[in-house]
Amino acid sequence: MENGYLTQTTEKRLMLFSGRGYPELAERIAERLDVPLGEVELETFPNGEVYARYLESVRGADVFIIQSLGEPVNENLMELLVMIDAARRASAKRITAVIPWYAYSRQDRKTKPREPISARLVANLIAAAGAERVMTMDLHVGQIEGFFSFPVDHLTAMHTFVDYFVEAGFRGADDAVVVAPDTGEVKMAKAFAGHLELPWAILSKTRHAARQSEVTHVIGEVAGKRAIMIDDVIGTAGTLVGAAERLVQEGARDIRAAATHGEFSGSAYEKIEASPIEEVVVTDTLPPKRGKTSGKIKRLTIAPILASTIRNVFTDESVSAVFMGENQLF
Ligand code: R5P
Repeated sequence: MENGYLTQTTEKRLMLFSGRGYPELAERIAERLDVPLGEVELETFPNGEVYARYLESVRGADVFIIQSLGEPVNENLMELLVMIDAARRASAKRITAVIPWYAYSRQDRKTKPREPISARLVANLIAAAGAERVMTMDLHVGQIEGFFSFPVDHLTAMHTFVDYFVEAGFRGADDAVVVAPDTGEVKMAKAFAGHLELPWAILSKTRHAARQSEVTHVIGEVAGKRAIMIDDVIGTAGTLVGAAERLVQEGARDIRAAATHGEFSGSAYEKIEASPIEEVVVTDTLPPKRGKTSGKIKRLTIAPILASTIRNVFTDESVSAVFMGENQLF
C-alpha cells in the first residue's frame, strides 16, 4: 500500500441462470455462449410462494437471468422477481433480466377509465427487484422501453423470419404480399416486406371486446396473391384467423403467418387447424403448448440472437450490430 490505497484489477464474469419458465431455451442460449447455466435452487412452497437461492457465489458477476413470462404467467413473473432480488442481495455487479416474452405488454395504456397500465407496473416491479438492464424481443409497442429508466435491449425476430421466407422462395415473388393483420403491425410489415422485396397490405380491425375483433377494412392488393401475415404475438389466434378468413374473401390464397411469440392461449391450436391458414411460423420465445400438436405450426429458434446479444452486452460491444442496425422496429 504505497500511496495510501489498495489497487486490484478484476476480471469480468458472465453468469447465466434460468427460471422455470422455459429452461430449454436457456439451455440453447447457454450452449451457443459456451457458458453453463448456473446452479440455482427454485421451489414453490405448498402455500404457492416461490423461493430462489443461488448455489454458487454471484458476487461481482455480470448476471443474466433468463425467464420467459409464459403460463403460468404470474408465477413466472414472481419467480423472476425473487431471482433478481436474491442476486442483488448476493452482491451481483449487474443484473440483466432476459425476458424473451414480456407478458402484460398489451396492457400498455388505458383504453377505458379505471384500468391499470400493467406493462408499466411489471417494469416497476423488475426495477424495484434490482435489475439494471432488460433484454426482450418484439414488444407489443416500443414505448414500453420508456417504462424503464435503465437500458433495454429491444430485439427483433424479423430477420429470422426473413431468412425463413427467403429460403422458401418468397423474395421478390410477383404473386406474394405481406399483410399487417392490424394497424399496429404496419411498421413491422413494411420492414418485413422491404426485406422480402414484396408489396404490403393492411387490415384494419375493430375490437368489440378483449377477445373479439372484426376486420373492417382491407388496404392494398391481395386478390390472387399468396399472403404472409406478420404479427408480434398469437394469443387466442382470433386476430389471425379472422384476418385469414377476410383475406380469403378478398381472393388471397396460400395464406401463411409469422409471429414472434406463440402464446396460443385457449383454443388457439384448434382454431388454427380449422382455419384457411396453411402455415404459422413462430419462434421459441415461449415453450410449445403441452399436450397440443399442430402440423401447421413451425417453430424457429431465436437462441442465436439472444446469445449474441448477451455476449455483446457483456463485452460492451454494439447490440444493434447483431441486427445490422435494425433492432428498433416498433
Ligand atoms: C394486437 O394488437 C396484437 O398485435 C395481436 O394481434 C393480438 O394480441 C393477438 O391476439 P389474439 O391472437 O388473441 O387475437
